[in-house]
Amino acid sequence: AKLYKRTSYLLPALRKSTVGNKNAPKSSSHEGQAATQNMSFENMVESRREEACRSILVQVHSEQSCFHLHKYCCQYGEVKGMHHYSLPGSSHFVLVEFTHKANVDHILKCSSHVNRKEVIPVRSPFLWFRAPNKPLQPNHTSSEPPTPVEINGNNIPAPAELRNWIQAAESFSDQILVLHRATSLNDLGSRLRFLTARQIELALSGLFPQITVMPFGSSVNGFGKAACDLDLVLLADKEETNDEDNSDCRIVFHAKTLLTNGRTQVQRHMETLGDMVQMLLPGCSHVRRILQARVPIIKYHQDLTGVECDLSMTNMSALYMSELLYILGASDWRVRPLVFAVRSWAREIGLTNPTPGRWITNFSLTLLVLFYLQQHSKHKGPVLPTLNTMISLAGSGDHRITSEGVNCTFIRDVSQLCHHMASSSKKLPNTDNLETLFIGFFEFYSSFDFTTHAISLTNGTSVTKPDHSPMYIANPLERGLNVSKNVSHDETERLRIEFRNTAWMLESVSLTPHETSLTVSQKKADEAWGLTALFEAPQSAAKGRNIFYLPTQRVPPPRIMDVSNLFQQDTDEVGDSFV
Ligand code: GTP
Ligand code: MG
Repeated sequence: AKLYKRTSYLLPALRKSTVGNKNAPKSSSHEGQAATQNMSFENMVESRREEACRSILVQVHSEQSCFHLHKYCCQYGEVKGMHHYSLPGSSHFVLVEFTHKANVDHILKCSSHVNRKEVIPVRSPFLWFRAPNKPLQPNHTSSEPPTPVEINGNNIPAPAELRNWIQAAESFSDQILVLHRATSLNDLGSRLRFLTARQIELALSGLFPQITVMPFGSSVNGFGKAACDLDLVLLADKEETNDEDNSDCRIVFHAKTLLTNGRTQVQRHMETLGDMVQMLLPGCSHVRRILQARVPIIKYHQDLTGVECDLSMTNMSALYMSELLYILGASDWRVRPLVFAVRSWAREIGLTNPTPGRWITNFSLTLLVLFYLQQHSKHKGPVLPTLNTMISLAGSGDHRITSEGVNCTFIRDVSQLCHHMASSSKKLPNTDNLETLFIGFFEFYSSFDFTTHAISLTNGTSVTKPDHSPMYIANPLERGLNVSKNVSHDETERLRIEFRNTAWMLESVSLTPHETSLTVSQKKADEAWGLTALFEAPQSAAKGRNIFYLPTQRVPPPRIMDVSNLFQQDTDEVGDSFV
């Protein structure tokens, strides 16, 4: 019994009011996240990458196998932790973290293939636990020290359960915090994403010993939802991208010459990469090549970690964008919950859609929230700094320019940034609670003129639109690019109407919980309030008020992919019995 630690997404204490408390209790599955949350972006990424090097993923028969797997792994080194999860189809997996990377090397060296003649003998940290030749010993005879095992670490609350928790919160601000804590990417989610990145890295490390496959986007920027996709960028030789002066070095690698058209070369490399992922890498299926996009990508599903991946090759600025978002999210405890609430709102009322198209993306919505938090009123200062402030505070170690020449220099030290924000403001600090900020967001954008104005996080003010795009959010790092270029006129209009509807609803729905005393009926206590009321009634509220509601057909856009090169889906079936 000591060995197992059941995951509960929310500790009871979480339901107590936690507003304004940075150190509010977290669920056990967020403990690992908490360990990295005060790190700089680079340290957090390095720590996760190093953790992935010390980890293996083992498919098992059921959660009952954890004990025997633990015992087996202990022969190869000290096991630091075990994290069990299951995926649809009742497949069970355990991510085993060893204390030392050498333990992983040792266990992989001693692992084997079954039916060697029938499989491609790839070696990787993706394994399965075979039934033993001899009968297993009962659990209680073990002399091994117990290792905490997290069971069902990937569980996400069912919608009804999440609704109950949100309903049970003590205030509107608390509801936002509960939503954030219950639905954000947890420790196991991060581990699995870094292990998924490592699979590509290991597969290519013979050709490119310096290769780094870096997660970016919501998996690392602090705005990730449980089960979010994994955006990856492949950097073949990270050391040389740092423009080191190596003119004194007399031994030089022989290498093939790059084609003059870099884009064609990238597309061909991506095609080869797609073939490798599809044909050789265990667990990778549904490979799609989207090579005509501005940034060519390979999409695939990693069936063993349950992660949907987008792999790109020349997207260094997107990595720095993730760092920028991470820093802004870390610089004030209200930023991430507020972004989550707005993104959930957009999803609930159908403004965002997992399929890319002419509607607003989560990334653009995030920038809208960050821009709103850069605003200040007559007396109160802003919650967040402008990018210009962050650039002006950059130290000598913050200098970053991508190989495409994009300047991504800004301050990386969150505590120094917070100190500057607190000490430089001539106005009162903004101490608004999440409720006030959430309402303020909808009021702000209800009156924002998207027709003539663009959003610029660089100086935190709106600017005249440089072109006729229906919505213009200037890319903070790549000036001249519009992040919301994909958003159509209809969708911009719909967004504007929804901002107004919601601002109106926030004035009319109850933002406090109903009393649960004996004098109040159970029915009243269950009545939706705050976030629940907002998420459950937007359509009917819009209809009831006869507000013109643009019908937007959500037809998935045509996909650009090389259909001719598509292969049959791989079958990575396991051909033997599990323990
Ligand atoms: P979800 O995947 O929806 O949870 O959010 P995400 O932030 O990961 O968004 P997405 O997967 O669409 O994009 C991944 C990252 O690519 C973003 O975080 C940005 O850094 C970058 N990105 C996305 N869209 C754009 C765009 O239109 N322009 C630019 N320059 N970068 C983008
Ligand atoms: Mg993403």
